[in-house]
Amino acid sequence: MDDNGIRIDIIRPQYAKGLERLQRDCFPTLADSELMREEHFLMHCKLFPEGNFVALHGERVVGLGAGFLIDFDFRRPQHRFMDILAHGYYTNHNPKGAYYYGADMSVHPDYRRRGIARRLYDARKGIIRKLNRRGLVAGGLIPDYAKHKAYMSAEEYVARVVAGELYDSTLSVQLKNGFRVVTMLRDYIEDSASDNWAALILWENPDYDRHRHPHQARA
Ligand SMILES: CC(C)(COP(=O)(O)OP(=O)(O)OC[C@H]1O[C@@H](n2cnc3c(N)ncnc32)[C@H](O)[C@@H]1OP(=O)(O)O)[C@@H](O)C(=O)NCCC(=O)NCCS
Repeated sequence: MDDNGIRIDIIRPQYAKGLERLQRDCFPTLADSELMREEHFLMHCKLFPEGNFVALHGERVVGLGAGFLIDFDFRRPQHRFMDILAHGYYTNHNPKGAYYYGADMSVHPDYRRRGIARRLYDARKGIIRKLNRRGLVAGGLIPDYAKHKAYMSAEEYVARVVAGELYDSTLSVQLKNGFRVVTMLRDYIEDSASDNWAALILWENPDYDRHRHPHQARA
């Protein structure tokens, strides 16, 4: 629990309804088919609960940092959001996967700019370190691109956010949390704000030990 009364827990079935509501509150520009529902979150509780983190204010669900393990192939990085998420069910989860795929990071609009996303990122980095995985990969949305898309390509926009010349309410937060942009993902997701683009972002685990038995959990 922090000063604001926010605590972080792993995902549990009793949070599934609140998580469905949180999706709608956090992603107003996403197509309905891109949003996860209660049934998806109930599945995540079974597949990989120790890697899915929920921020709570009392009983209220106010944030989510979610994902699963996968052998991501950086030689063929192009993919679509709902394909890699198995339409929200995370059934591509491979307990031996070298990377954590970041499927969702969202904080309710009323609770933003209090460091909740940072705590959720830190929780995800913690499990990656504990399980000795290589890092965290994700398709990062660029919701503020909509304001610039009439006169700038998505690549140029991302390059300018990385250079610190433009601020993106999502990508800038990810860069501050240690991510770098690997490449652009075209037609990643149906999102009017990001114009369907995402940036493939990567955080590399500085403690990854390739001499340890691959993916051996820390004692
Ligand atoms: C992106 C998102 C998850 C960030 O959540 P958040 O909890 O507001 O993030 P944080 O509070 O950790 O950090 C955000 C900003 O708040 C600032 N901040 C953190 N604690 C603060 C505090 N106590 N007082 C003031 N500002 C604070 C951070 O410095 C950062 O600002 P900066 O980038 O100008 O430095 C949230 O905006 C969101 O849900 N967006 C919509 C969904 C989305 O796009 N998700 C990502 C999909 S890829």
